[in-house]
Amino acid sequence: MRRKISILGATGSVGKSTLDLIERNSDRFEVVAVTAATSAEGLANIARRMDAKLAVLADESRLEQLQALLAGTGCRAAAGEAALIDAALADAEIVIAAIVGCAGLRPVMAAVEAGTTVALANKEALVTAGQLMTRAAQTSGATLLPIDSEHNAIFQCLAGSRAEDVSRIILTASGGPFRTALPETIAGATPEQACAHPNWSMGAKISVDSATMMNKGLELIEARYLFGLPSERIDVLIHPQSVVHSLVEFVDGSVLAQLGSPDMRIPIAFALAWPKRIATPAQRLDLAAISRLDFETPDLSRFPALRLAREALEAGGAAPIVLNAANEVAVAGFLGNRLRFPEIAEFVERTLDSADFPAPQTIDEVLEIDRATRSLIESLMTEDCH
Ligand SMILES: NC(=O)c1ccc[n+]([C@@H]2O[C@H](COP(=O)([O-])OP(=O)(O)OC[C@H]3O[C@@H](n4cnc5c(N)ncnc54)[C@H](OP(=O)(O)O)[C@@H]3O)[C@@H](O)[C@H]2O)c1
Repeated sequence: MRRKISILGATGSVGKSTLDLIERNSDRFEVVAVTAATSAEGLANIARRMDAKLAVLADESRLEQLQALLAGTGCRAAAGEAALIDAALADAEIVIAAIVGCAGLRPVMAAVEAGTTVALANKEALVTAGQLMTRAAQTSGATLLPIDSEHNAIFQCLAGSRAEDVSRIILTASGGPFRTALPETIAGATPEQACAHPNWSMGAKISVDSATMMNKGLELIEARYLFGLPSERIDVLIHPQSVVHSLVEFVDGSVLAQLGSPDMRIPIAFALAWPKRIATPAQRLDLAAISRLDFETPDLSRFPALRLAREALEAGGAAPIVLNAANEVAVAGFLGNRLRFPEIAEFVERTLDSADFPAPQTIDEVLEIDRATRSLIESLMTEDCH
């Protein structure tokens, strides 16, 4: 029996890496559903290649185009949010949650509530709705398998451990392109410089998040909900080589780490095959060639986004949602040359200071806080221009 997979966000970077692995292991996996936002042609090509049963676009205006592209294939074309939820609830053993942003919240929650195993790349799901998602998983019995490389590393190191045996987890961060830069250089950083990640090849938004270190801040919040540890037992360590993906320290002083080349196909393969393993074409580590592994404490004065994320995590309630939404708008402002690099964290902080939302009890409330935060930061940014 082949394992049935549904891929939410099949046309993206994580989606494509997942498809690459599935094609290399077509005797073990079959794709039942694939989704995208607007890329009708890309999605139709994937659906044809993988012989999927359902292909869904978020953008309903492109449904006719998708239907025409899939005519005669036996793959049903659909569009809109309800259809995205259908894809999450398709007859799949594993749902790959690789939609970017809060658009993934409802489909991911639907899969979790149905008790499906969810391989989670969409970090916003846990950052903004961590408590709701993990509570739903406990109720339904759903398993959450992290795809983010750091969380996947921790998941691997924790295998079989009792919660009381863990003293802390340590997330590693490359430090991004400005790790050693002087504050005055960081202040004048251009989008091109901020997107030039030293080790990982990723999209613009997540690359800027690495440069500000907000990405590690979001991962701190993600780790809190995935592993159920309080903020003071989750540390961040700069590790410029990106070889050690994260570590777990146990009460006896043992520290376990997961190492590997920086290739997302390693954590994705782990999630696809779990609890077994499958081969990947990822480059093997040559530790003798790497020769040294460095570690440093993060500098919160040059990278205030990390401090803001920890404060939001500790404040709880709506604060992580505000942090995430404000950051998305501020990063878009920076990429559009509306904000300078240091203003990303400044505006996120001003938004956190101005926001006053109650803790959300439902996904609808999470999405409402997300929406309200976006207009709040927009008004702060507009005010500042006048
Ligand atoms: N890339 C990485 O190495 C990496 C590593 C760790 C975690 N992650 C996380 O994984 C998630 C996906 O990242 P990615 O780099 O693969 O992103 P990406 O390349 O931008 O792809 C995003 C996918 O989501 C779809 N999408 C975008 N907006 C949507 C909407 N409103 N409704 C429904 N679908 C939508 C896109 O469809 P279209 O093609 O039609 O736009 C695409 O299929 C993010 O949360 C990211 O933080 C990524």
